[in-house]
Amino acid sequence: MRTSIVHPGADNLRYEIRQIVEVAKAIEAAGQPIRWENIGDPVAKGEHPPAWIKEIVGRVAQDDLSFAYSPTKGLDDTRAYIANERNLEGGIQITADDILFFNGLGDAISTIYGALHPSARVIGPNPAYPTHSSAEAAHAGAPHITYRLDPQNGWKPDLADLESKVAANPHIAAILIINPDNPTGFVYPQDTLAAIVDIARRYGLFLISDEIYSNLAYPGSDMRKLASVIARCRPSPCAASPRNSPGPARAAAGSRSTTATRTPTSTASPVRCLRPRCWRSAPPPCPSACCRR
Ligand SMILES: Cc1ncc(COP(=O)(O)O)c(C=O)c1O
Repeated sequence: MRTSIVHPGADNLRYEIRQIVEVAKAIEAAGQPIRWENIGDPVAKGEHPPAWIKEIVGRVAQDDLSFAYSPTKGLDDTRAYIANERNLEGGIQITADDILFFNGLGDAISTIYGALHPSARVIGPNPAYPTHSSAEAAHAGAPHITYRLDPQNGWKPDLADLESKVAANPHIAAILIINPDNPTGFVYPQDTLAAIVDIARRYGLFLISDEIYSNLAYPGSDMRKLASVIARCRPSPCAASPRNSPGPARAAAGSRSTTATRTPTSTASPVRCLRPRCWRSAPPPCPSACCRR
């Protein structure tokens, strides 16, 4: 090769469980019996896809349109349906334009990290889910940066650890949440989500929330999608703040982002929306233009 073709971060693309399979295959080839377990494939464990799913997929495959190109962002009607489903949850109100389709979440993950500026880092939970941690490390060409999930506290995120790392590393541009978490199963309570939104807002970060298991959360786990928490955490009434305080902060859930901006008052003193406050029902009307979304 006259030029190097391997991305400098490619060595970071690791998926430990799958690497164990390679080791086990080598041991088996050497004549040692292996008892094979499973890496999460329900069909391999004897589960059957529900008949109604088979019926729909079979019917749709008969339609020539299924083989045609679709709009780049996904079918308009389907995106509108999903936006409406989100809106029914009473959280942030979105439109079809906020929805993008990918070929599974793995595709979304590699697209997001692949499109990020190489110096922009995403801090994620530890223990990590390798599809995220390896894609993020590969994009940066450096080990993934993590915040601690505390095993002594039901795997709750250590918010002090998260904030200290965010504060110390100006390259951190985003916080990753996996909710419910893989591998710990931890479900983020509303106040923890609000605290992470608050950190993102104060440091000017965006958020990636992987909610692939949100429909598998046990009843009573109080699973909440990040978007519903952001909607209830509007900026608190404006207050004067020093000129050198952090600038506009942004928090994004999936493809949706909200922005709290700094707006001059009539006295020309800089004001900004301070910490978000959470309301269980509709928030009170904002006293100032800077608090409007
Ligand atoms: C937390 C998490 N995110 C993403 C994925 C990948 O999703 P997909 O199979 O849609 O690519 C998985 C799959 O196990 C997962 O556990």
